[in-house]
Amino acid sequence: MGLNHAALDSVEFADPHQGFRQDVLCGLSGASKTLAARCFYDHRGSELFEAITRAPEYYLTRTELAILEKYRSAIAASVGDNCVLIELGSGSSRKIRCLLETLKPKTYIPVDISGEYLRQSICALQSSYPWLDIQAICGDFDDIVELPPEFRRHRMLVYYSGSSIGNLKPDDAEKFLRRWCRMIGPKGMMLIGVDTKKDRLVLDRAYNDSQGLTAAFNKNLLHRINRELDGNFKTSLFEHRAEYDDREGCVKMYLVSTSHHSVQVDGRRFTFRAGERIHTENSYKYSIQEFGNLVRLAGFVCRDVWCDEKNLFSVHCLGSPVPGA
Ligand code: TRP
Repeated sequence: MGLNHAALDSVEFADPHQGFRQDVLCGLSGASKTLAARCFYDHRGSELFEAITRAPEYYLTRTELAILEKYRSAIAASVGDNCVLIELGSGSSRKIRCLLETLKPKTYIPVDISGEYLRQSICALQSSYPWLDIQAICGDFDDIVELPPEFRRHRMLVYYSGSSIGNLKPDDAEKFLRRWCRMIGPKGMMLIGVDTKKDRLVLDRAYNDSQGLTAAFNKNLLHRINRELDGNFKTSLFEHRAEYDDREGCVKMYLVSTSHHSVQVDGRRFTFRAGERIHTENSYKYSIQEFGNLVRLAGFVCRDVWCDEKNLFSVHCLGSPVPGA
């Protein structure tokens, strides 16, 4: 089954490979080195991330899934029938199954940057749900600036799971929410999974799992550069580091060079000092109240918030403030 973009002709995507080259060269050239988080998700990166979501220490996915299961009828009551369900960063499309079964949407639109992975996931979904109209989009959802006007005839529900919103700085998260609030229109809704602030030990364990999956996921960035950009990173010269900064309420992820050495990428040379870090990801955590403030600033109203019993994770249901919508 091919990917069907028919309803989304107005959406244009940059060449993903060109984007990767630019992200990498630009990120490694700055005074403090950094790699954009979207670079994680080549096919291997998506597989490793899926493995992380099943690691015993990584409570996020399991807990979000349990919240969706527990509150599925409340979600259905808020959203209603026949919506257009858009999932940003659909990955393995595992969590969406509960929503598909509960909401029976008119159309499901998974958006993911990892093409082959997306294709496999939707093939599996289509065979479980033959009745479902799936229109997948392969690309970076940050490039979506407008949705086809015919979608507005239905309620659009955007699902953004896994606390991916926390991978943006709070200012950027607000801009991101504001943009989607405008795109989905007055009838539109958003369902967002958000990781909460908690004991740092729990966070440390979640981002430093004992099987080394998160370390492998982080280091896969270097393997990907070697594969796709003719790089010669020796991955044994880098260590995975994830640490919680409780002043900022954020887990920060790095690859740390253990020695002074240089690396070639795409014909260019980059030097690393011993102890120098490449910043690869942030994962901001929000209390329910903090996230509520953020969504209001972005122009949404929070209709519902659901949590697990230990308040490890939250799912926020956002709507438009337009009265009567
Ligand atoms: N959205 C996920 C999170 O913030 C992404 C993530 C999980 C991640 N583990 C990671 C990103 C390790 C980089 C490295 O939890």
